[in-house]
Amino acid sequence: MQTIITIDELRSALKPHRHQNRRIALVPTMGNLHAGHIRLVEEAVKKADIVVASIFVNPLQFGANEDLDKYPRTLDADKLKLEAAGCDFLFTPSDHEVYPEGRNTQTLVEVPGLSELYCGHSRPGHFVGVATVVCKLFNIVQPDIAFFGKKDFQQLRVIRKMVADLCIPIEIVGIPIVRADSGLALSSRNGYLSAEELAAASQMHQVLMDCADKIRQGERSFRELEDSALNLLESSGFKRDYLRIVRQEDLLAAQTEDTKLVILAAAYMRHTRLIDNIEIDL
Ligand code: PAJ
Repeated sequence: MQTIITIDELRSALKPHRHQNRRIALVPTMGNLHAGHIRLVEEAVKKADIVVASIFVNPLQFGANEDLDKYPRTLDADKLKLEAAGCDFLFTPSDHEVYPEGRNTQTLVEVPGLSELYCGHSRPGHFVGVATVVCKLFNIVQPDIAFFGKKDFQQLRVIRKMVADLCIPIEIVGIPIVRADSGLALSSRNGYLSAEELAAASQMHQVLMDCADKIRQGERSFRELEDSALNLLESSGFKRDYLRIVRQEDLLAAQTEDTKLVILAAAYMRHTRLIDNIEIDL
């Protein structure tokens, strides 16, 4: 695996592969890689000839009071994992390479509506940061196919919408959530939790599964289900952010007749904000 830090170098390295019509995949990440990220790389290896992973802790998607400075950076360990998974190129640009004008960067990519709901409501500006950096990475790498986790269900929706609206010729693949044995969705932020908090955090998946079971059994009072699931999260030691039963397609509040649903949730375990979701196909 070759590690590349500049846009020019990456473009030159990819050029011969593009000319030989090799299928290029991109797996964008912020590093501190775990088995969830690696699953994306493994799927990319299966579906493409050349796999590019990026590690860039994107300042634009972090709010002023968020964890940008303490976000875990574990480049050496990440490289070993990527190499073992069959990644060909690792792109690790500096902040200056991606944003030469820093926070004054002028052109932003905004997917209104979708970006204001749920995680976007709790983290204003977050999805503008995500859409902008993903659009830049798409233009830098020009992949044929790109892989994203369903763990960030709303992020995947925002990216699919951006790609459709801007006619970006890249196939977007969503990969199911990889979980710990406890059910907890793997996340770089789980590293912020103590052993006791980790055990409590795994209750989030249980609460979502119980709620999904009730829906599968015919319960349709979605707003009541949301309230009782939020109460259960609180009694497991979480501070509530949101829990919503929505339609997979447009993330709007589910109605009785809808059949493709997803329960989206975010909650704080002490200072750590965790997200999870569960899809329900009726
Ligand atoms: P990051 O949180 O590092 O996640 C990178 C990719 O890994 C995302 O597509 C995310 O959904 C996926 N992922 C994370 N945990 C997962 C899990 N447990 N199972 C399956 N997939 C998982 O998401 C970002 O970075 C950034 O917002 C990014 C898209 C790179 C833009 O900066």
